[in-house]
Amino acid sequence: MKQNNDIVRSKQQQIALVTGSSSGIGYETSLRLARNGIYTYASMRNLSKSGEILGYAIRDNIPLKTLRLDITDKESISGAIDKIIAEKNRIDIIVNNAGYSLLGPLEQLDIDEIKNEFETNFFGIIRLIQSALPIMRKQGYGRIINISSLAGRIGFPYHQPMLVLSLPWKGL
Ligand SMILES: NC(=O)c1ccc[n+]([C@@H]2O[C@H](COP(=O)([O-])OP(=O)(O)OC[C@H]3O[C@@H](n4cnc5c(N)ncnc54)[C@H](OP(=O)(O)O)[C@@H]3O)[C@@H](O)[C@H]2O)c1
Repeated sequence: MKQNNDIVRSKQQQIALVTGSSSGIGYETSLRLARNGIYTYASMRNLSKSGEILGYAIRDNIPLKTLRLDITDKESISGAIDKIIAEKNRIDIIVNNAGYSLLGPLEQLDIDEIKNEFETNFFGIIRLIQSALPIMRKQGYGRIINISSLAGRIGFPYHQPMLVLSLPWKGL
């Protein structure tokens, strides 16, 4: 999507949504964005894990809010997007981070475990992009960052079909 400089907002006016913010890269990315002044929705599928990140947000007085979002659940995605639009009326940045690596010898893994990995690492990302694109098109600006993995390009022993959506991050 072409970036129109009149539409691109200052950091302090931008709204970000990060998936999988309960730990690791999503947790750190959410804090980093908020510390840079970007209003950040640190989303996670289980809000009982939100205490620590909220504690930092309050202590440091940074613009961070937690939100429930399970990327395997279409209704959870639309509920989260609707909430952000109701509160902020835009979404400038999406960080597709939620995902995991299914480990084990292939013959011992249940097919449902493998399907679930695809639901999360592959279809989950597509689901969220499909939900966000109409909003970004309407507002004339948007940036989607997909956290991928080297394991999407190179096979490692016991990393079963590691189909993290293998795209470099890019603006729209
Ligand atoms: N760390 C690495 O070296 C590395 C290397 C290559 C790629 N990556 C990729 O980077 C991303 C983050 O990895 P990480 O190392 O930070 O792992 P992590 O600490 O295990 O974090 C993964 C996050 O994804 C969340 N998640 C899993 N399934 C979800 C779902 N259905 N809906 C919403 N959230 C879900 C987890 O939530 P719960 O707490 O509820 O489980 C957790 O918050 C992943 O996509 C991973 O594949 C990481």
